[in-house]
Amino acid sequence: MSFLNIQNLSKNYGTVPVLKNISLEIEEGGFLVLVGPSGCGKSTLLNTIAGLEAINEGTITISAKDVSQLHPSERDIAMVFQSYALYPNMTVAGNISFGMEMRGVPRDERDRSVKQVSDLLQIGHLLNRKPGQLSGGQRQRVAMGRALVRKPQVFLFDEPLSNLDAKLRVDMRTEIKRLHQRLKTTIVYVTHDQVEAMTLATKIAVLKDGVLQQFGSPAEIYNDPINMFVADFMGSPAMNLLKGKMSVTGGKTQLMLGQNEERCVSIDLKQTSAALKIYKDKDVIFGIRPEALTDFASASYNGASIVKVNCLIEVVEPAGSDTFAITKLGGKEVVARLRADANVQAGQYSDLAFNLDKAVFFDPTSQLRIA
Ligand SMILES: Nc1ncnc2c1ncn2[C@@H]1O[C@H](COP(=O)(O)OP(=O)(O)O)[C@@H](O)[C@H]1O
Ligand SMILES: [Mg+2]
Repeated sequence: MSFLNIQNLSKNYGTVPVLKNISLEIEEGGFLVLVGPSGCGKSTLLNTIAGLEAINEGTITISAKDVSQLHPSERDIAMVFQSYALYPNMTVAGNISFGMEMRGVPRDERDRSVKQVSDLLQIGHLLNRKPGQLSGGQRQRVAMGRALVRKPQVFLFDEPLSNLDAKLRVDMRTEIKRLHQRLKTTIVYVTHDQVEAMTLATKIAVLKDGVLQQFGSPAEIYNDPINMFVADFMGSPAMNLLKGKMSVTGGKTQLMLGQNEERCVSIDLKQTSAALKIYKDKDVIFGIRPEALTDFASASYNGASIVKVNCLIEVVEPAGSDTFAITKLGGKEVVARLRADANVQAGQYSDLAFNLDKAVFFDPTSQLRIA
């Protein structure tokens, strides 16, 4: 049974709808990430769960209790904000225990809780400092400590890492994951960073313009995107999305990439679903991730779904663990992810292997997935 359950939630600011009929749920101990571009409604959705924003329609239940109309203090949640929102004149210990003090928790119990979470977050040596004497990462830990001492049913995080530099973000991301594995408390986490979403989540909700685009496991979202927006938003470098035309002749299905350009390419589709065959003589959008487009030597282990295409390599970008090669197919730029030591050179032709098992197809008008 789901632990946090949001059903048909809508929210307007005045007459402007910002969340449109959103339904999603997460099991107890799950890690739900709300992801999407800036302004899509992530913070607003989190705030409605917290009770900081009222909803116009729908219900929010936590542990089988309808909390939709409850005051934030009655919802048994704790929130960590992007800005940390620490009290500048209080020490770290004071910041962590302040909420407990307000709730009348006795002194010795407060001290014990502060000790426990500061050990957990490795900030024991900072307890007597003021926030101004801390680094960004340390402040973030204090903000998390303040949420942790509450032992809530649900933690809500709103872009907690976005003020940190790149290296620290990655470290703190791992720490948040470790913390979740240890505490097993249900988390709802907002980010605009698709890598953060993929690495932390047990379930991802992708939002755009206040509409839930797709809700599923990280693998489902990545491998089976429901539309072009999700396909394009998740993954870096982004999925290659190419316009093509389907042709079926004598039982043989082909995809033509680039219709009027000089170098059009035709790809044999060996296994074609019935859904795709309906698009005979019609335009489709062919989607293939950079890692499904490799140098031929790395791909040859799996011959059945591999198609070889001779491509002019325009740019080679060594990236340490991989090499990215940029080429054009049917007039459009395409990124291939090759082995670090792949033998490719800018300005030369090279055989690239397309793994069609990993290809996806979209309708160009509706932008929805066909196959
Ligand atoms: N208090 C408010 N009044 C009116 N519009 C708001 C308010 N807060 C946010 N919005 C609008 O609601 C939309 C969603 O905002 P928000 O939830 O903050 O997006 P995100 O967190 O995904 O960046 C945006 O278009 C934003 O401008
Ligand atoms: Mg936000």
